[in-house]
Amino acid sequence: MNSPRLIETNAFPFEFLSRLGKRESWRKEVHRPIYHVHKWWAKRLGTVFRGILLGCALPEDADLPQQFYQRHAFSGVTVFDPFMGSGTTIGEAHKLGFSALGRDINPVAVESVRVALGPLDRRKIRQAFDELSHGAGETIRTLYLSEDSRRRVCDVLYYFWVMQTACPECGRVVDLFSSYIFAKNARPDKKAAVRILCPLCGQVFCGFYGQTRAACPSCDFAFNPELGPARGRMAVCGHCNAEFSILDAIGGKRPPFRMYAKLVLRKDGKKEYLPSSPADVRNYVRCSRRLREEAAKGNAAVPNLTLQYGHNTGQAMKYGFLRWSDFFNDRQLLALSLLRSAITEIADDPTKEAMLTLFSGVLEFNNLFASYKGEGTGAVRHMFSHHILKPERMPIEANVWGTPKSSGSFSNLFRSRLLRVLDYRDSPTEVNGTGRASGRVCSQPFSGTLHPWSDSMPPRAIALSCGDSSTTGLPDKSVDLVVTDPPFFDNVHYSELADFFFAWRQLSNTQPPRSTRDKNEVQDSNADRFSKKLRAVLRECRRVLKDDGLLAFTYHHSRNDGWKALADAVIEAGFAVVNSHPVKSEMSVATPKSQAKEPIQLDIIVVCRKATATNVCVDVQDAMTSGKEKLRRLQSAGMRLSRNDIKVVLYGQLLTTLANASEADTFADCVERELAVTPIPALAARHSLPLFPDD
Ligand SMILES: C[S@@+](CC[C@H](N)C(=O)[O-])C[C@H]1O[C@@H](n2cnc3c(N)ncnc32)[C@H](O)[C@@H]1O
Ligand SMILES: [Zn+2]
Ligand SMILES: [Zn+2]
Repeated sequence: MNSPRLIETNAFPFEFLSRLGKRESWRKEVHRPIYHVHKWWAKRLGTVFRGILLGCALPEDADLPQQFYQRHAFSGVTVFDPFMGSGTTIGEAHKLGFSALGRDINPVAVESVRVALGPLDRRKIRQAFDELSHGAGETIRTLYLSEDSRRRVCDVLYYFWVMQTACPECGRVVDLFSSYIFAKNARPDKKAAVRILCPLCGQVFCGFYGQTRAACPSCDFAFNPELGPARGRMAVCGHCNAEFSILDAIGGKRPPFRMYAKLVLRKDGKKEYLPSSPADVRNYVRCSRRLREEAAKGNAAVPNLTLQYGHNTGQAMKYGFLRWSDFFNDRQLLALSLLRSAITEIADDPTKEAMLTLFSGVLEFNNLFASYKGEGTGAVRHMFSHHILKPERMPIEANVWGTPKSSGSFSNLFRSRLLRVLDYRDSPTEVNGTGRASGRVCSQPFSGTLHPWSDSMPPRAIALSCGDSSTTGLPDKSVDLVVTDPPFFDNVHYSELADFFFAWRQLSNTQPPRSTRDKNEVQDSNADRFSKKLRAVLRECRRVLKDDGLLAFTYHHSRNDGWKALADAVIEAGFAVVNSHPVKSEMSVATPKSQAKEPIQLDIIVVCRKATATNVCVDVQDAMTSGKEKLRRLQSAGMRLSRNDIKVVLYGQLLTTLANASEADTFADCVERELAVTPIPALAARHSLPLFPDD
């Protein structure tokens, strides 16, 4: 591996990967379902990691676009990913014939990857699903029965709920609607019909998007349907007109919710919005009673872990969501408990694990933080759509087992997640040039076997482990490549969010751990602490990497301190940066406000070798010239760049100039100076436009 690899040179065609990556990002879960069997945050694009791996293994004169669609068998080459997440590097390495070692500190991530890449038997999985459907599934479906407008029995697709609080002035209950329009199409500009709730009599009726006056057909009450009592942080009491702070009124006690409407699926297959009826309320009360009875008998499989205060958990705790079970209503807890108990009865272990992972994914869509996206799309907006834990004032309760027209239910996710994973494992495809459908099969099927950790790795073996990657237990100089994607500073608080799922895995376990948080998790709002933790993992990577091995990782940060922290960690761990390449990043829905105007659409691939006494650092001027040339290449590929995009490309290139960590301080100055005189100011001006013009 001593001769230069393609990824070390400027010939590495990052534009090609960016273009393909953009196509993959539209429908990641369809193109590479294997990494989408369960929720994880900041999943990277498989296309980009296939490209990185190929770039690390192929010689400098290789033709990547052509090699990308070839079958490969890099047997005898071992890749290690110390920050595995959902397993993107590991799966892509396996497809290319490498041996792959994946480790992550979070058990929620590792268990999902074990399911996606480990043994799965399609026949046993289908059989288990059928048995669940006839058993717990049947029982759960009865919890969501109601009547349509003609009083015929029907399934409920969704119940609509609203958070309530008592007015601090008059003490009466206020429904915290932000709008009385509770259902609209996901594209209201295309389909303007909306559903409105009458605040006076509770009737549900049709209106159209944008209307500011509505009259209830039942009671004639006239009102502005867009204006509910809740207005941002404040609410106005409909009884006494007092304006009050919602958080103060809630006072840290988990607020109650009121059911007000439902969407039913009639026997003729049509959907119908209706107000919730007294029978619906009785049905719900029966569920609550049954949950209490099951709990009294010790049969309720619901979490008993409490939230630990943190950046994200604090958002929920302010509203009095203190236990993970507070995130669900009683019917959700009952249905989930019935389902989980039935799954734990499955005899075949891999099948049981796969179903438990699927079940865990269902939690994300079936809780009080989920909301209604509207029709014309997957109807349920899951709780993590913004990487935060902010309580929802108008939650939606979906049918946990599901109907053929449901979204986010167990039976739907069985098809859209688990069966898709099985198909992909049999014939792993690559995104093709048109991006319309998943294209060509260029790899052997997945082996579906896992090898023990830390052994010598046979060709194409996969080994996974859960733990801190600053100590891996791997032998010195045993891996050829480290390919990874470290956490970006404090962008995502993985373990705080993952604890929502973890609480359901620890049901019968009263012993610690009570959380997936770990003091060694690389994630910190303090730059020095972040850098130290990252350095510890990179040092371990250096120890296990062969002397002629490569370390390649992606990084993405807008602030100077994020780059300085990275530079310090890399250099102090004993690496030298050989090159860097900009590449399309996955579309992040959780763009912090500070970046919204200048979004970063690029990840930087940083390529390193072990630092040696003879390392030659690049001259700053040369690095700037290379950076600008890369910007020009992106521009000729049709890309529109924000100021932050330009910055990160230059930051990435400046890494190659560093011989010691303290030089990282000059980063910002260099970049700012360069931006002031950049010969490509037009790039900076056109910021918020899409990455590539639509094909
Ligand atoms: C940016 S994510 C990786 C995402 C991954 N590339 C994907 O496509 O899903 C970073 C991961 O590092 C893990 N992590 C953080 N600190 C760690 C440590 N000390 N040891 C091992 N894993 C760690 C987190 O749990 C998280 O899954
Ligand atoms: Zn009042
Ligand atoms: Zn009315």
